[in-house]
Amino acid sequence: MNSQIINIALPKGRLGEKVLKMFEDSGFSCEEIHEPNTRKLIFKNPEAGVCYFWVKPSDVAIYVERGAADIGVAGKDILLEYSPDVYELLDLNIGKCRMCVAAKKDFRDSHDKTLKVATKFPAIAGEYYQSKSRNIDIIKLNGSIELAPILGLSDVIVDIVETGTTLKENNLEVYETIVPISARLIANKASTKFKQEKIAVLVSEIQKRI
Ligand code: PRP
Repeated sequence: MNSQIINIALPKGRLGEKVLKMFEDSGFSCEEIHEPNTRKLIFKNPEAGVCYFWVKPSDVAIYVERGAADIGVAGKDILLEYSPDVYELLDLNIGKCRMCVAAKKDFRDSHDKTLKVATKFPAIAGEYYQSKSRNIDIIKLNGSIELAPILGLSDVIVDIVETGTTLKENNLEVYETIVPISARLIANKASTKFKQEKIAVLVSEIQKRI
């Protein structure tokens, strides 16, 4: 069973670096991945039984759901938004932030008209306001969401708040918190059967470092 290789999708960026360190500290190191200026996309360490690749954070769940990766690390925001058909194995307790409704400081929801909500997360926003029976008009954007209420494109935004700096510097503030977010270890459903032993070892080693 030790000859099995686990394919691991890592989220590119600051969170991914932390995740990689967690994996390497857990005994799944990979020298190749630290080569400076490499253009390689896939990094293997057959001795440790791992193969890593960096993908866009929002794409990790797709790789895992379709079995191109056995496991991966994705933010709870992505899991809530896209509901991929994967197993969520661990809360890694890193990449912590919260999904919030934010607005201009003087904003008060008057409830007498449809609320205009700009967001990268239409499913999360839709579900949240549905639970409050509030009529909304979702404006789907792909970035720089904070601009929307400033320019009058929307009344509020539903977005991730980490340090709160982006809101503060743009005279916006949190109006309501929807849900706390953190990075989750996810697994392909078939892989958890066919590579059960290897994945179980990896999960238990990583769990010790959370
Ligand atoms: C996220 C989010 C906010 C910002 C919040 O954007 O959409 O803009 O981080 O972080 P803060 O509370 O620490 O200021 P991201 O950096 O992912 O870029 P994006 O605008 O392209 O989505």
